[in-house]
Parts: sequence; C-alpha cells; structure tokens
Amino acid sequence: MTSRTTEVPKSGIGAPVDRVEAHDKVTGAARYTADARLPRMTHAVLVASTVSAGRVRRIDTARAATAPGVLAVLTHRDRMPWRGTPEDAKFMEARFPLADDRISYYGQYLAVVVAETLAQAEYAASLVAVDYERHRPVPTLDQALPHAYTATGRFIQPPFPQRAVLPEGADPGAAMEGAAVRVDATYRVPHYSHAPLEPGAVVASWEGDALTLRDCSQKVHQHRDIVAAVFGLPPERVRVLSPLVGGAFGNKTDTWAHSLLAAAAARAVRRPVKLVLTRKQAFTATGHQPPIIQRLRLGADAGGKLAVIVHDVVNATEVRGDRPDPAVVSTASTYAAPVLSVTTRVAKVNISPSANLRAPGDGPGSFALECAMDELAYRLGMDPLDLRRRNHLEKDPLTRRPYSDKNLLEAYDLGAERFGWSRRPAKPGSLRDGDDLVGYGMATAVRGELPDPLATQAEVEIRADGTAEVRTAIQEIGTGSLTMVAQITAAGTGVPLGRVDVRAGDTRLPRTPGNGGSKATGYTGSAVHLAAEQARTTAVRMAVTDPESPLHGLPQDEIEADDGRLFHREKPGRGETYRALLARNGGKPVLGKGNYTPRTSHAVATFGVHFTEVRVDPRLPRVRVTRHVGVFDIGRVTNHKAARNQAQGGIVFGMGWALMEQLVPDPVSGRYVGPAFTDYHIPVNADVPDIDVLFVDKPDTIAHPHGSKGMGEVVAVGVAAAIANAVYHATGKRIRELPITPDKLVS
Ligand code: MOS
Repeated sequence: MTSRTTEVPKSGIGAPVDRVEAHDKVTGAARYTADARLPRMTHAVLVASTVSAGRVRRIDTARAATAPGVLAVLTHRDRMPWRGTPEDAKFMEARFPLADDRISYYGQYLAVVVAETLAQAEYAASLVAVDYERHRPVPTLDQALPHAYTATGRFIQPPFPQRAVLPEGADPGAAMEGAAVRVDATYRVPHYSHAPLEPGAVVASWEGDALTLRDCSQKVHQHRDIVAAVFGLPPERVRVLSPLVGGAFGNKTDTWAHSLLAAAAARAVRRPVKLVLTRKQAFTATGHQPPIIQRLRLGADAGGKLAVIVHDVVNATEVRGDRPDPAVVSTASTYAAPVLSVTTRVAKVNISPSANLRAPGDGPGSFALECAMDELAYRLGMDPLDLRRRNHLEKDPLTRRPYSDKNLLEAYDLGAERFGWSRRPAKPGSLRDGDDLVGYGMATAVRGELPDPLATQAEVEIRADGTAEVRTAIQEIGTGSLTMVAQITAAGTGVPLGRVDVRAGDTRLPRTPGNGGSKATGYTGSAVHLAAEQARTTAVRMAVTDPESPLHGLPQDEIEADDGRLFHREKPGRGETYRALLARNGGKPVLGKGNYTPRTSHAVATFGVHFTEVRVDPRLPRVRVTRHVGVFDIGRVTNHKAARNQAQGGIVFGMGWALMEQLVPDPVSGRYVGPAFTDYHIPVNADVPDIDVLFVDKPDTIAHPHGSKGMGEVVAVGVAAAIANAVYHATGKRIRELPITPDKLVS
C-alpha cells in the first residue's frame, strides 16, 4: 500500500509520524469518557420505549424505586429542569426528553433509573412497567411517501435549497426533452447507523449550579452552549471535557437526550452520575442517516456533454421534526451542466431524529449521481471516466467563484494509471477469473466546505524548558487531530515534535468548530499555524533586541527555528536555544495566539476519485471488493500515515453502505430488527481488500493558511457508487438500491 504521489517527508509537515496518543491506546492507558470515575459517583440506566408510536398510559416505578441501591427514578411525571424551548437551545430533538407522555419512535427514553451501582440500576430499570396506549406507526418511507411534503423550519440548513433551478428561469423539462441521450432512474439508500464502536457515554457532576460533563463529543463548545441553554445557565457555568472519542462519524457532533438526562439525574441525586448507552441504544437514539429515495435524471448530447441534471429527493423524517437530508448538496458542484433542478421533500416516519452522518448529503447524493453518470456512459457507449472528464467543472456554479484549488483531472489520471483502468473491457459481464465475474467501477468524490461562522482559536506557548504546549479545544476522535496540532506546532516553532505537549478536548481551552464537517485540519490546523508563527516571531524579536543574544541586531526575517533553537539562516552556527533565550529573559513562556476566520473569496472543496474491482460468484452472488484505489485532492497532507489511515477508513465505511449496512424496521411495529452488530453488519478485516491510497498533496494556502483542507468526508463520497458500478460491469445487473446484498443479484 502506498499513500503518495510525491516523496513523503521524513520530518515536519507531512511526516508519517505515529499518533501522539498511540502508546496510551495500545497499552490500555488511554482513558475514554466511560472510564471516568468520580468520588461518590452513581450509575444511571435508561428505560426506552418498546413501541414506536403511542402514549404512556401508566408507568409503574414503585418496584424500581424501592429496589436495592436505587436513588431516583425519573419519568415524564417529574418536573424536568429544562428551560426555554428545544428550538431556542438548538437541541437535536423537537421535544425535550421526558417532556410529556407521547411516544414517536422506538427507543425513545421513558425513564431514568439512578442507583449506587450499575447492576442495581440495570435491575431496577427492568422493574419499570410501562402500560402503552399503542398507535398505528408509520414504520417505513414507502408507507409515508404519499404524504411527502416540502420541509420548513429550523432543521433546514442553509445553503441547501428545498427547491432550486439554475440558472433562474431555466426550463429543465424542456432541456430533458431536447437531450439526445437521457437517463431517468430512481435510487434508494436505507437507514444507516453511524455505528461507532464506542456508544455514547457521559459523566455528569454538579458543584452548586456549575455543571461538568465528561462526554463523548466532536464539538465540545457547541455541546456546552446547548446544554447551558437547556439548563438556563450561562455557558461559562458548564464545562465539557471530551477525552478520547472512540469513533463518531458525525453522531457525536450533536447533543442527545442521554446527556441532558444524566445532568438532570445528577442534579436530582446531588451526586455525579455516569450513564453509558447500551449497544442497542447507540443504534436507536444517537442519530442515523434516514432512508432516502432519489430520482436522478440526466440529459446529454450525443458526445456526452451534459445539458441538464434533475435531482429529486425524498427522505424519511421523524414525526416531530422536519429534517431534510442535504442529498442534493453537491449535485450542482460535481459536473458542469448548464441547467440544474433540485428538490427535496420529507415524509414522516416513526423514527428517531436523524443526524449528520459522515459526508452528510454527499454520501447518499453521490450514490445517485455517480450511478446515473455510469448509466449514461453505457447509453452513450462511452468510457465512464471519459464522461467525467468531458463534464469537468472549473468554477463553483452555486457561488460562481473559482475554486481555491482543484486537481481533480490529475487525480483521475493518477488513479486510472494506478488501477489499470485502461484494461477495462467495455462490455458488462465480459471479464472473468475462473468462475468469478469481475467488474471495474469508478466514481468521482466531491465535498464542498461550508464556512464556520465563528473564529477558530488556538494558543501555542514556547516554554523556558525548551518544550512547547499547544492548547485548543479540538478532540481526538480517532483521526489524528492531536498529532496534527502537535506537528503544526513543531513545524511553526522549531520545537521538536517529541517536546510538544497537547492540551485538547476541554471547553476551557480556545474555541474551535471541532471535528465535524471536515474542518479539523483546515480550521484548527490554521489557528495553530498562526499561533505557532506568533510565538516564534515573538521569540525572534526577543532575541534580536537582546544585546546578550548571539542574534542581536540581525533582521528578524533572517532568523530560522529548528531543533529547539533560533539561528541565522546564512550562518546556522550563529544562534541559541529557546531555553537559553528564555532563561535570560525572565524564564516566562512566550505565548502565541491564533484566531482564524477564513477570508477567501474562492470556493473551497475537496475532490477525489475511486476505482474499484469486484468479484461476484454467479452461483452465490455475493459481492467481494478485491481491489480499490482512491486518489484525493485535499491540499497539503499534514501526516501521510494518519491521512492514509483515514482514507482507508472512509473507503471501508463506503464499502459498508454499498454491501452490508442497513437498519431494518419491522414494517408493522416500527421496531428495528436487531439493532446490534449481530445484524447490523459492517466490514471486518476479512471483507477488506488491499486499499491503495494516493494524494495529490499540493498545499492550498488560498483555502487555509496551513495549506490543508479537510479529508474526513470526501474519502467516503462515491465509494458506494463505484462499487455498484463495478457490480454492473461484472454482472450486467444495475442495482439501484443499497446495500447490494446477494438477494438483489439473484434473478
Ligand atoms: Mo461530521 S458527519 O460533520 O462528523
């Protein structure tokens, strides 16, 4: 496996260094949220609804309340401490937990039991008896479809229009009519779960009216602000600590009911409360991507030049909220089509609230668009990659701005060469290896960056002992963010990487947008970059103005920093260590602050391409991915090891969507069938082939001063389509509904 198109640096930015927390993780010393233990800590267990629609007619808590060790049982009959409205607090759900007796989804929490030990809480929770008034649920999107409508309200995130035609006044119908070649197909994606290995967990503790939450969060500051609003507290009275996060994929960007309930329970019993979700609860109540039906129409001329794209989306949404899925988000910004029409509607289903799931919108949207492009290529008798090249987009059509940088054509060339795309026979079903049908497929990946409204902050200190400390509220969610900030600090200050301490995951540290929306490296990395520059510049100024420094009197821009030392660029022997400089100047650390808001007038996006090979045994049509090449254009690669790892993870994530994952609701009761890893299958090592990852690796300093853009999402975009396209190439069967399980290939 490789991860580069150019030489990987041995040190500095780009170096494939090990994670700063790697040793702790492999030795078991690493502490996750659920590992926290506080003095006098109690344990909470949630009682969840076993029906998906109805009311609580009666909830009998008497036996639970008198069970051994039980300290409190809270239900909707208790006065919960919530203030204001979910809307004002920007809470994920349209209703606060335990706010009333109504039930609108399976797994909705009905009670919290707090006891001295976890076993006591679990036992007491089993004694809570619920008498339900059952209503007839709407369990599936198909059942809800006749009542689909255009969403309104607070869950619409700009800039995703619910309906739009570009350019204004264009006639997409006429454009379709006039097209020489057309595709009109409907694609379906099921209910997907984020399925991180670490379920949600929280430890809540109060001191007076100040709340501390140790919680699994990708965005500690946003989480803090929401929790503070819900409890009617000023934000500074709430502290959120998020140590290492054991996987998230978007479902820890939001504040969920269990965090609020743990805080309310801790207040009720006046002791710290630990609450760890069960595996089942991790599937039912911390978000998911809803089922989506997408109709995609393409019109092109005989040479493959697109004339029009029409993308119509309907997604399932929860009964109490209108949450449209942004599946159309990149439809306009993937290919150059003179006419574009997008619509999004929702249909109410008895499911829990959906949430951003890695590559929100682009994940499901790219499945439809990239499969439709493949269908168009076959109809035209054109190579699918040539069709993409033919419709390459130079400018972002939504903003009419040029991209800060875009090297997609180069990525196509690199990937095609590495994969051996030119060996692909055009005819489906014509490639065999023994009994296996073999197929090649490809897809483009695009992920636009949505600017964060708040400044991203970081502090870097160079200390008198020659070490440095970087402080920023970023979290480690498994992707290498702590290592990223350490590397940028080391590169910016010249303090060796091994002497950089990282403080992170705490709302007392400088604010960042967190680890979401592929923003960690572009935003936090750039704030750290600026902070480190400022710290170094301050130290340089100190040196050149200090009569006792060997650098005294030299122009500042002739001074460089490396290996813990400042020196003259021309004569590296002339210089001194930070230690010596700071010791002579009062021994105080030098502080640099980074305050970063992107100011680019360009459109910023990341790009990539996937080439994949599948093998299908025609007797038992199980699809195996046997080769995969991903090439990504994400600006400068900050750490080739972590980046390759994250790209491989994203591709494996996409393989799961393509071939295995789905939460299946019972079509009568609305209960999920088997919300557990026994039934919700994700790829394991035996399912994953050699994944070859390449990077274009060109700094994009127009996007962000550090030159890196995000990569967490783009790497997963298009994978499912590439696999579905390869399945068509292998078998001649076009599967438009994910996951591609063997039943769909048996004819
Ligand atoms: Mo992401 S889906 O913003 O973690």
